[in-house]
Amino acid sequence: MDIVTVQNLHKTFGKGESAVHALCGISLALEKGKFTAIIGASGSGKTTLLNMIGGLDTPDAGEIIVDGVRLSNLKEKELAVFRRSKVGFVYQSFNLIPTLTVRENILFPLSLAGRTHDPVFFSEIAALLHLQERLDAYPHELSGGGQQRTAIARALISRPSILLADEPTGSLDSKSGQNVLGLFKLSVEMYHQTLVMITHNLEIAQMADRVIRIEDGHICE
Ligand SMILES: Nc1ncnc2c1ncn2[C@@H]1O[C@H](COP(=O)(O)OP(=O)(O)OP(=O)(O)O)[C@@H](O)[C@H]1O
Ligand SMILES: [Mg+2]
Repeated sequence: MDIVTVQNLHKTFGKGESAVHALCGISLALEKGKFTAIIGASGSGKTTLLNMIGGLDTPDAGEIIVDGVRLSNLKEKELAVFRRSKVGFVYQSFNLIPTLTVRENILFPLSLAGRTHDPVFFSEIAALLHLQERLDAYPHELSGGGQQRTAIARALISRPSILLADEPTGSLDSKSGQNVLGLFKLSVEMYHQTLVMITHNLEIAQMADRVIRIEDGHICE
C-alpha cells in the first residue's frame, strides 16, 4: 500500500531571470512501512520536496496525497492539523526547546495537540533510544547524539503516518551519527514507521529499502 503519492510536482522560487526551478515535475509513490533515502547534489530540490510532503510548503502545480489526505484541499489551519497528526519531522539541527527537559520535549507535540500519552509507549521509546536516564536533563546537557535521539523520540511518540528526516546525522560526528542512525532504523522497523530521509551519506543510503536520486528538480532513480 502506498502511504504517499506525489504527482507531477512543480515549484519555482523567484521570478524572471532570477527564477529557480526547484522541482520540475516530480512524481513518486512511497510504500507504507518502508525506509526511503533521498540523495542528490546540494540545491537539487531534496528539502523542497520533503517540505511539500510534510505540508510545510505548497507546490505551484501537482498533487500530494499523504495517508489518504489530498494536501491541496487543505486550508492553512487544516495543514497545521495535518502536520501535527500525520507527520514527524527530524532536522539536522535537532530543533529542541532549550527550556524544556528531554521528557517535556518528547511529549511537546502531544501536549500541543491536547492529546494524552501512553506511558508504556513513552517508556518503550525512551528505552529504545537510550534516553531513560536523561529524561530530566535539558537539551544543552546532552551530546549532539543525545539531542538527536530526543528529537527522534519526539517524532515517534505521536505515531505519525510518515517520518521525514532532513540530513539527521549532518551535524554529528561519524561515530555518533552511526549510533543515532542505527537506533533510528531499529525504531522505525519496530513500529513499522514509514521513513523518508535526505542524506548526503551513501553508506546511510545503502541501509534504506529504496534510494531516490534527485538531479536539478527531476527524479532519476
Ligand atoms: N525559499 C526559497 N527561496 C528561494 N530559493 C529557494 C528557496 N528554497 C529553496 N530554494 C532554491 O531551490 C533550489 C532547491 O533547494 P533545496 O533546498 O530543495 O535543495 P537541497 O537539495 O535540499 O540542497 P542541500 O543539499 O544543500 O540541502 C536551490 O537552488 C535553492 O537555492
Ligand atoms: Mg536540503
